[in-house]
Amino acid sequence: MQNFIYKNPTKLMFGKGQVEQLKKEIPQYGKKVLLVYGGGSIKKSGLYDQVIAQLKEIDVDVHELPGVEPNPRISTVRKGADICKSENIDFILAVGGGSVIDCTKAIAAGAKYEGDPWDLVIKKASVQAALPFGTVLTLAATGSEMNSGSVITNWETKEKYGWGSPLVFPQFSILDPVNTFTVPQNQTVYGIVDMMCHVFEQYFHPRTHAPLQDRFCESLLVTVMETAPKLLEDLENYDLRETILYSGTIALNGYLQMGYRGDWATHNIEHSVSAVYDIPHAGGLAILFPNWMKHVLKEDTARFKQMAVRIFNVNPEGKTDEETALEGIEKLREFWSSLGAPATLSDYDIDDSQIETMADKAMVNGEFGNFKKLDREDVLAILRASL
Ligand code: NZQ
Ligand code: ZN
Repeated sequence: MQNFIYKNPTKLMFGKGQVEQLKKEIPQYGKKVLLVYGGGSIKKSGLYDQVIAQLKEIDVDVHELPGVEPNPRISTVRKGADICKSENIDFILAVGGGSVIDCTKAIAAGAKYEGDPWDLVIKKASVQAALPFGTVLTLAATGSEMNSGSVITNWETKEKYGWGSPLVFPQFSILDPVNTFTVPQNQTVYGIVDMMCHVFEQYFHPRTHAPLQDRFCESLLVTVMETAPKLLEDLENYDLRETILYSGTIALNGYLQMGYRGDWATHNIEHSVSAVYDIPHAGGLAILFPNWMKHVLKEDTARFKQMAVRIFNVNPEGKTDEETALEGIEKLREFWSSLGAPATLSDYDIDDSQIETMADKAMVNGEFGNFKKLDREDVLAILRASL
């Protein structure tokens, strides 16, 4: 393992009825609250009314920023940062999925920055301060509720980048499985694919001695794969929603990645695809990840064999390591297809016309990937295999 320091300051409040914690948590931050949410799912589910009732009890002054888009846009971040500045907001409350939380992180940092918040996303300026914020999560997927990362899209320039700062960890996150009951089947699948991909990004890391971390990753993947098909048959099952919700947080709160750096190349390529085509993040990942795996297989075939045997129960007898590994990758593809996830870019009507543009966007900071460095030709090969 490499040396590491781990600190995750987010207070996690998990379980039924935890929305009640809002009235205990918020007063310490001040009187002026900006409530940030998405396109209306929280109004339909009744969560909006519950949150407003909590805020009324503590008599805070509430401003609202509705309409955060899936793949949140810098234009919305700018709007939010302007409200924070003009209204002297003390605290931001994000109620929604990863997009609402990511947007809130950028608003929190943008509110304390004199220039355009996009500077922080493209790292032209570094985050020096941020407003405190909390979250009520409604969708199990990104892990944004307990990490310091955010992904923002500039639709005018067709760019989508991840950025982060220790200053944008949520102060608290409320995770009630009941708030995920209304997530439709397709978004439930996307969430499951996304959290699995977060584990794979970490599982495939440069060679190091980390046997416990391997087992953590494997057990998380096996648990999610056992739970997912049952959940899709029973979307309001509390226990199954609970398992998936908890898994999504653990998959990307830094816990699995102690002692090494994961790969993260597939996420980078996906962000270029969804920057150009605005497709769901995990839809892109489901298409790309098995093709990335095949492309880099020879970098460490033994690790792919381990994945095949331990996660997908492939019997290695009488097979080369490569054959075993490839069978594991096929099983992953079959599993995602069985859930209804897309398998090719053509499932989103994406052809090869913008493939060079996507590769350019992925390469904007040069070669990338910690398990295996990818250059432009590698990216093009993975995209072509995904058409
Ligand atoms: O906007 P509303 O009306 O709320 O509807 C949303 C949205 O349409 C809906 N939804 C959310 N909770 C619901 C619900 N519908 C019914 N009932 C509920 N309880 O689901 C749709 C998708 O929501 P979104 O927040 O976009 O999904 P997700 O959580 O998957 O977030 C995706 C974004 O996160 C970024 C992705 O790139 C993408 O922009 N990521 C952020 C990461 C991070 N911060 O660590 C890591 C990830 O790898 C990812 O890149
Ligand atoms: Zn992701």
